[in-house]
This record gives sequence, C-alpha cells and structure tokens, in this order.
Amino acid sequence: MIFAVKTISLGKSYGDFRALDNLNLRIKKGEIYGLLGPNGAGKTTIIKILCGLLSPTSGEAYILDNKVPNKKISSDIGYMPQETALYSGLTVHQNINFYANLFGIKNNEIKEKETELLKFVDLYDWRNEIIENLSGGMKHRVSLACTLIHDPKVIILDEPTVGVDPELRISFWNYFNKLKEKGVSILLTTHYMDEAERCDRIGLLSHGHLIAENSPKDLIIETETDSLEDAFLKFSRMCDR
Ligand SMILES: Nc1ncnc2c1ncn2[C@@H]1O[C@H](COP(=O)(O)OP(=O)(O)O)[C@@H](O)[C@H]1O
Ligand SMILES: [Mg+2]
Repeated sequence: MIFAVKTISLGKSYGDFRALDNLNLRIKKGEIYGLLGPNGAGKTTIIKILCGLLSPTSGEAYILDNKVPNKKISSDIGYMPQETALYSGLTVHQNINFYANLFGIKNNEIKEKETELLKFVDLYDWRNEIIENLSGGMKHRVSLACTLIHDPKVIILDEPTVGVDPELRISFWNYFNKLKEKGVSILLTTHYMDEAERCDRIGLLSHGHLIAENSPKDLIIETETDSLEDAFLKFSRMCDR
C-alpha cells in the first residue's frame, strides 16, 4: 500500500534538544489527518521535514512512497507554512500567478483555477490589492490559494485557519472534504477542537512524542470522556505522569 505520508522512527534534534522522537506516521490517500499539540510540541518540525525544508536527525520520511527530500514529488505537495510566504509588494493575483508559474501551470489553465480558488477563499474582489494592505487572516487565505494552485495530491497545512473567521473556516472544511473525495490527502495542524473533530484521524503530539492517535470518535471512547477536549486533557495528564 502506498501511503500519502509515511515516517519511520523519525527524529529531530536541535543541538542537544530532542524536538521529535521516534515518530511513526501513516496517512492514507484521501485521508484528512490532524496533528494537535501545544506550542513547541514539534508539529512544524514534522511538517518541515516532510516538505524537505529540514533534515531529520534520525529515521526516514516518505511522501507517496518517495523518500524526502525529493524534487520529483515537489509538485505533488502543496505546503502552506505557518508564516505566510507571500510577496508583500505584489497583488493577490500576482502572487497566485507567481506560484502557478513556479509549478509550470499553463497560462490558459491558471485563470480558471485562480478564479475558483479566489472565490473559495472569498477574495475574488480583492485580487488586485497589494498583499501589504490585507489583514493577517486575508494573507492566510491568499497563502492557501497559492498552496492549492497546482492541484497537489498531498496537502500539508501548518495552522491554515488561524485568523480565519468561523464562517469561512466552515467553507474551508467543505473544500477540504471536496478535495478528499478526489483522493487528495491532507495533513494539517490546528488548535481548534471543532476542526479536530472534522479530521478522519488525529495524532496528539506532546514534547515530540505521538501520545495518542485515532479517529475523534474512538479517542473519546478510549478515554471514556465525552468530548475531544477532555480526551486530550486525559492523554496529556497520563503522559505527564
Ligand atoms: N531552529 C530551531 N532551533 C532550535 N530549536 C528549535 C528550532 N525550531 C524549533 N525548535 C524547538 O523545537 C520544538 C518544536 O518546535 P515546533 O516544531 O515549531 O513546534 P510546534 O509547531 O508544535 O509549535 C520547540 O521547543 C522549539 O522551540
Ligand atoms: Mg508550529
């Protein structure tokens, strides 16, 4: 079976500090997987390794059966960093086109895709605005559109809905589910419980360790609690002991 994401005993140290330890992740094609954990748990570290931006200290990571980093699969990955990577002096439209060109999308295909994505992130009327003039949440939405412009098969989103209002967050999730139906796999990090509940599976990360992993429903059953929030608190307490 080819997994969208697979890691084998993945570890990362920053100097003496062990940020990630013995991580074994398996994310199936068409699965939406949520990584949860407090700040500093190691979420961004995992994502950066998967996207080829950091080298692991130990273990291996694969995207669609290709060991990362690997140029061959870079166009299969759609990565949205926690800190948005946009050209602040360019317009929304110019930024999206920059990313589209980077991935070699044909000009006649860009326009249609750009329109679809700008409507999805509710920024169509802002397409000629310079990034500098947008709010933080709006920049996040542009960044998401840039991430999706080349129809990636594996989408990796680091806190994609920070600063996004609740209504738009729901529309993001409708879109994620549409992508999932097409067989696209999504790995995302979030702090929102309502969002975690929408994932097929969740991994709970604490101090670089995966301390629990299951579907939201089964995590609640496993801990004999009645909300995901309580389930997480219980797991965190168990592992602090
Ligand atoms: N470049 C770095 N140098 C040293 N420590 C780092 C570096 N990047 C991250 N860390 C540390 O590694 C831990 C995990 O960080 P990170 O992966 O960003 O966590 P998260 O995304 O879950 O907040 C944190 O304690 C952080 O301070
Ligand atoms: Mg982070």
